[in-house]
Formats: sequence, C-alpha cells, structure tokens
Amino acid sequence: MMKRVALITGCSSGFGAHTAALLAQDFRVIATMRDPSDLTLLKALAGPHFDQIDVMKMDVTDPIQIQKVMDTITQREGRLDILVNNAGICVAGFFEDLSHHEIESQMATNFFGVQHVSRACLGLLKQSPDARIIMISSIAGRSALPFLGAYNASKWALEGFSESLKFELAPFGIQVCLVEPSVFKTKILDENLYIAKRASDPNSPYYKFSQQIRSHLEKRRQGWQKSPQKVARLIQTLCHQKRIKTRYLIDYHAKIRIGLRALIPFEWYFRIMSALFRRQIFQAR
Ligand SMILES: NC(=O)c1ccc[n+]([C@@H]2O[C@H](COP(=O)([O-])OP(=O)(O)OC[C@H]3O[C@@H](n4cnc5c(N)ncnc54)[C@H](OP(=O)(O)O)[C@@H]3O)[C@@H](O)[C@H]2O)c1
Repeated sequence: MMKRVALITGCSSGFGAHTAALLAQDFRVIATMRDPSDLTLLKALAGPHFDQIDVMKMDVTDPIQIQKVMDTITQREGRLDILVNNAGICVAGFFEDLSHHEIESQMATNFFGVQHVSRACLGLLKQSPDARIIMISSIAGRSALPFLGAYNASKWALEGFSESLKFELAPFGIQVCLVEPSVFKTKILDENLYIAKRASDPNSPYYKFSQQIRSHLEKRRQGWQKSPQKVARLIQTLCHQKRIKTRYLIDYHAKIRIGLRALIPFEWYFRIMSALFRRQIFQAR
C-alpha cells in the first residue's frame, strides 16, 4: 500500500523540524521551508528516516511558491493526507509602538499564510480517505498578554477560522484540530523574535515597559527548557488517532491558565493577571 503523505510548513527549526523527523517514521513527508540550504538539523533529527523526507522551498506568504509545491506533490505522490500548518512568527510590541506594516506581517504569516496553504491543499486532501489538518495555534490564541497583541490577534483569528473550517470540512471527512502549546524551547521567542522598531525609541511612551519586558524575557529564557519534541509527539499521535478532538492544550501551565480563565469571572482573572503584570512589566522604577 502507498505510504500516506504529510505536508508540514516551517520545517527549518522548532516544532516543524521535530514533527517532520518523527512523521518520517510512518509517512512520506513533504517538509517545506523558506530556505532549504541548510538541512543539518532535519538530517540529525530524522536520522535513517531522512530518506522519507522531501524538502521543498515554500514561503507561506507566497501563493506562487505554494502552488509549485502542490504541483510537485500531485505529480510525485498523487495524494496528500495530512497538513500541518506550523510556520509562524511572533511580532511583539505595544500596540502604539507597532506600525500597521508590522502587524500586517504578523497576520500575513500566521493567519493568511495558513489560509493560502490550506486552500491549495484542499483538492488533494478531499481525495484522501482519512485526511486531517493540524493547526499549530498557541495558548496565546485563547488568552491574551500585553506586548503580544499582534501575535494574540493572529492566533485568535486562526482559532476562529479553524473552528469554522472544521464544520465546513466535516462533510468531506477531513478532520481539523488546533494544537495550543505554551512556551517551548524553539527559536520563536529567541533569535526569531521580532520586536517593534519603535520599542527601542526612548521617545516612545512605552519605552520603559518594553525595556522591562526585554530584561524579563532575557531572565526567563534560561528557564524555558521544554523540548519541542513533546509537541511533535502529540502531532504524531494526532496523525494516527481515529477521531481527534478540536483543541489540544499540551502542558500543565497552559491547562492552569486556560482553566482559571474559564472557571472564574473574567474580571477576577483580569485582576489576577494585572497584578502579575504590574509586578513584572508596569512597575515604576
Ligand atoms: N515555541 C513556542 O513556545 C510556541 C508556543 C505556542 C505556539 N507556537 C507556534 O509554533 C509554530 C512553530 O514555531 P516554533 O516555536 O517552532 O518557532 P521557530 O523555531 O521560530 O520556527 C518557526 C518556523 O516557521 C518558519 N517561518 C516563519 N515565517 C515563515 C514563512 N513566511 N513561510 C514559511 N515558513 C516560515 C520559520 O522559518 P525561517 O527559518 O525561514 O524563519 C521556522 O521554520 C508557530 O506557529 C508558533 O506560533 C510556538
């Protein structure tokens, strides 16, 4: 029997690279990335399964590149069973510091990018007897934080879109789910983190707060040790389970935050979180 085929976006690092390596154990994997020139990480993670991975260049904001990838998959594999919409960026900064262009770039990747890729894949997915779309959302898609408004908006948009898509694709037998990690050790909040240009301008009314967040992030980064492997393992399970749920919170931190938000009136939750932010970000120095 022909191997099932999985397409993953953003495989140069983090969840994408780990997921591509794990899925290669059972699937033919199309690992897409913006720049496929350095495959050291993917090769190291996949080991002997690397020969099951077909690496293709794809920027999720570029419909022409996406179509090229789809044409190649149609020609070479003739099928697609799993789509993992993983590629993402984090554009941080207080709203007034963020330019419209910066916010647009956030939405272009995390939201419209997912729509471009999903749209292009639907034709093949509909022909699969057991297709699924796995969206890599975030706990940020269900509870917001200051400084992350643009990122929050992109993931909230993704959550709403995915819930709707789940209804629309059910008649075609395509399952849709959202994976909602909290903080894992990848590049997104490290070297890939984009901070609004104006956050570094001492004339910004938020300059002091942005500086405090930067130093808070520096300190916290050392403690972020959770391996992306855990998320990749969950995605692997979701590719095999017969029926999948709509949302997956992965770690206890995410479960506590979302649980608390759901259990108590929002104004109480807001007061608790505000007290925390006053200590960490908004304190007068
Ligand atoms: N790590 C966490 O704590 C965390 C928590 C919740 C949700 N997430 C979500 O997890 C997903 C993966 O992020 P990660 O944590 O693994 O971070 P990462 O290590 O920064 O990986 C992000 C990947 O997305 C790719 N990418 C960015 N823009 C792209 C574009 N326009 N087209 C194609 N690929 C693009 C990056 O490629 P380049 O190398 O070309 O930049 C990279 O391969 C994201 O959707 C993120 O929002 C992460």
